[in-house]
Formats: sequence, structure tokens, C-alpha cells
Amino acid sequence: MELRCCIIVLLLHLTGKVSLQDSANKFERFVGDSVILPCLYENKQSNVLWRHNVSRKVLNIINDKLSLENQDTIFQNRTESFSSEYPKGNYSVMLKNVELIHAGNYTCFIEKSDEEKKLQLFVKEKPEKNIQKLGNSSMNAKSQKNMAFLIALLGLTLHLI
Ligand SMILES: *[C@@H]1O[C@H](CO)[C@@H](O)[C@H](O)[C@H]1NC(C)=O
Ligand SMILES: *[C@@H]1O[C@H](CO)[C@@H](O)[C@H](O)[C@H]1NC(C)=O
Ligand SMILES: *[C@@H]1O[C@H](CO)[C@@H](O)[C@H](O)[C@H]1NC(C)=O
Ligand SMILES: *[C@@H]1O[C@H](CO)[C@@H](O)[C@H](O)[C@H]1NC(C)=O
Ligand SMILES: *[C@@H]1O[C@H](CO)[C@@H](O)[C@H](O)[C@H]1NC(C)=O
Repeated sequence: MELRCCIIVLLLHLTGKVSLQDSANKFERFVGDSVILPCLYENKQSNVLWRHNVSRKVLNIINDKLSLENQDTIFQNRTESFSSEYPKGNYSVMLKNVELIHAGNYTCFIEKSDEEKKLQLFVKEKPEKNIQKLGNSSMNAKSQKNMAFLIALLGLTLHLI
């Protein structure tokens, strides 16, 4: 059963149907996706500052209150903060509808203790767009053949296990 799941996941990856893999502090998304950037501290903190590429302001959480004052325009209407999680020391932030410009380094900085969590976000163009850009009918025929092959392989594998 486990093997079957692995094979399905693998095939979905090959056909580009699954979002990219994340590691603990590296996140990969396509343009238009959302991402939750985690920021967990053991205790509740008073001043939490989220920054992008060192100085761009994402948001602040000051005494359990979200502050969007002077938020960088590239983050306007794209962030979500979870105030019910603050008492648990969870200051994670959701970025919505990411663009290439949102790639880079994010820090969740605790002013009082000078601690910070660092995260890296990678943003890629959606693969469908790249195929359209190639705009070559023989290319499309080839990828259709690949897809048919993968579906046939999936059917066969599921049959065998
Ligand atoms: C954010 O949303 C508000 C209200 O809907 C709108 O007035 C403002 O122009 C938006 N800002 C950006 C940068 O999209
Ligand atoms: C922190 O909050 C985010 C947003 O609600 C949630 O997705 C995540 O699971 C939380 N993390 C923990 C460890 O509770
Ligand atoms: C942040 O840095 C990343 C990586 O160098 C870059 O791709 C991105 O465009 C930068 N964004 C801004 C707004 O400076
Ligand atoms: C982001 O951090 C990584 C690893 O710490 C570093 O190699 C890279 O140069 C940084 N990028 C920017 C735009 O600061
Ligand atoms: C499409 O690609 C084939 C080779 O894969 C090439 O021979 C052909 O010239 C290309 N057609 C166009 C319109 O780019």
C-alpha cells in the first residue's frame, strides 16, 4: 500500500501535478500560489518583525497586535497573520498570490532578544506558461505522448501492486 502511494506521488511529480517540495526553511512556489512561512518561538513575544531581503517591511506584531503601518507595497493585500496563534508563540505569516519579486530571504526577528528565524522563498513561473512560450506544435505533441505514456504506466503499476 505504501509503495503504491509512493509511485503515485512520483508519477504526479513527473506530470507536474504536485506543488514543489519544501524543506524546513526553504520554500518553493509557483507564481500565483500561497505559502505559509513558519515562525515558531517557545514563548509569547512582545515585538516580532517580519522583513524581506533584509529591509523590506512585511509586517510587525507589537504586543499581540498586527501592524501593517509602512508595509512595503509589494506585500499589500497579500499577507495574512494568525492572531489566535500568537499566544502559542506562533507568528507564522501567509503570503498570497506570490510573484517573482517575493522570492528571497525572510526573517522573523524578535526585537527584545535579537533572535531571528531565517527562511528562503523561491518563486518559479508556472510550467504551463513555459510550454506555451515554446509554442511549438511538435513539442506539444511530444508532451502529449509523454503524458499518455505516464498514464499507461500508472495504470500498469496499479494493476501490478
Ligand atoms: C488593497 O486593497 C484595498 C481595498 O480593497 C485597495 O484600496 C488597495 O488599492 C489595494 N492595494 C494594492 C496594492 O493592491
Ligand atoms: C502556526 O500557525 C499556522 C497558521 O494558522 C498553522 O498553519 C501552523 O500549523 C501553526 N504551527 C503550529 C506548530 O501550530
Ligand atoms: C529579493 O531577493 C531575491 C533574491 O536575490 C530576488 O529574486 C527578489 O527580486 C528580491 N526582491 C525584492 C523586492 O528586492
Ligand atoms: C539569502 O540567504 C542565503 C543563505 O543564507 C544567501 O546565500 C543569499 O545570498 C541571500 N540572498 C539575499 C538576496 O539576501
Ligand atoms: C518546432 O520544433 C522543431 C524541432 O523540435 C523544429 O524543427 C521546428 O522548426 C519548430 N517549429 C517552430 C514553429 O518553432
